[in-house]
Amino acid sequence: MAKKKAMSRRSFLDNLLILSGAGVVGAAGYPVAKFILPPEQSEPDNLSTTAINVGELAKGEYRIFEFNRKPAIVVRTGADANAPESYHALSAVCTHLQCTVQYRQEIGHIYCACHNGHFNLQGKVLSGPPPKPLPTYKVDIRNEKVIVSVESA
Ligand code: FES
Repeated sequence: MAKKKAMSRRSFLDNLLILSGAGVVGAAGYPVAKFILPPEQSEPDNLSTTAINVGELAKGEYRIFEFNRKPAIVVRTGADANAPESYHALSAVCTHLQCTVQYRQEIGHIYCACHNGHFNLQGKVLSGPPPKPLPTYKVDIRNEKVIVSVESA
């Protein structure tokens, strides 16, 4: 009877050791497997999206919207809300460390508050640490909507 009890204790310890080993292998193997296996396919990028409705922004106002899972910015600078040239659309992801930019009407610049980066409305870096310009988008007006598209090369 005592021997049976000792075997039972021994098999319990064996099982505990096997379980611990499996846990260690799983903890070490999961990140390796995630690194080796290809990522799941994400949705393909859209070529265009509706940024805002016509009349939603007064002259000098801006809006951040999502375009292909990233923030983008549309700024209205013209008086005619139905004219595509009254709007500027750019990526809102700062090219320095990816902060979201904003438009400052009083200076007429796209501004990144993280490290005082300034861009003009064509995306060109005016000052600060951003190394590259902001990508710009094409603007069209269709059915009372401001449509923003990736410019074809
Ligand atoms: S993240 Fe925009 S200036 Fe640094």
